[in-house]
Amino acid sequence: MKKALILIGSPRKKGSTATLAAEAERALNEQGVETTTIFLNNLTIKGCQACYWCKKNDVAECAVRDDMQKIHALMQGSDGIIVAAPIYFAGVTAQTKLWLDRLFPYISLTLAPKMPEGKKVSFIFTQNQPDATLFETPIRTFMHMVGLTGLCVKDSMLGCDLDAGNKPPVEGRTDLLEQAYSIGKNLLL
Ligand SMILES: Cc1cc2nc3c(=O)[nH]c(=O)nc-3n(C[C@H](O)[C@H](O)[C@H](O)COP(=O)(O)O)c2cc1C
Repeated sequence: MKKALILIGSPRKKGSTATLAAEAERALNEQGVETTTIFLNNLTIKGCQACYWCKKNDVAECAVRDDMQKIHALMQGSDGIIVAAPIYFAGVTAQTKLWLDRLFPYISLTLAPKMPEGKKVSFIFTQNQPDATLFETPIRTFMHMVGLTGLCVKDSMLGCDLDAGNKPPVEGRTDLLEQAYSIGKNLLL
């Protein structure tokens, strides 16, 4: 059975990002893919300590013992990953950035990727600004950096004009729900 890992970078369990991620998960489950969803906010993940242990030992492992060990193991055991994150201050949330920094063991100093080959990654972003171009550069950079690990970047979507409780709920945005469903449906194709 194929496996997918869904990482949610919002602190809100029932926010717009989690709702869209659930649509992607539904599509994966309908294809018989086993999914694991993790809210990064629930975990204890330190920033990279710059010890270079992974580089000195030339391993795709991290010396820092915290919940990131669990995420590394889940990533290794998955065929695909969906990263779902809101935009905070023109970039991904701090929880999501911590996860990215701790992917350092998967990027060698020559920028050669160390992730086992063939794993896919797709992205779901949300923001409250209606203009989709506003944070295009930081979003692209984030996806590029994730791709440097060797994860194969497949799809991405950006849900704009979303602010749970202040703007029309994402549950009524059928266009976005459909896009999120497609992200899940296509992840492992
Ligand atoms: C601290 C904070 C910073 C934010 N910064 C931005 C921002 O820079 N640009 C933007 O469009 N939305 C920003 N937002 C809005 C969120 O990205 C948006 O409401 C998102 O859909 C929240 O996702 P959630 O409901 O899954 O938590 C910010 C929200 C918070 C709480």
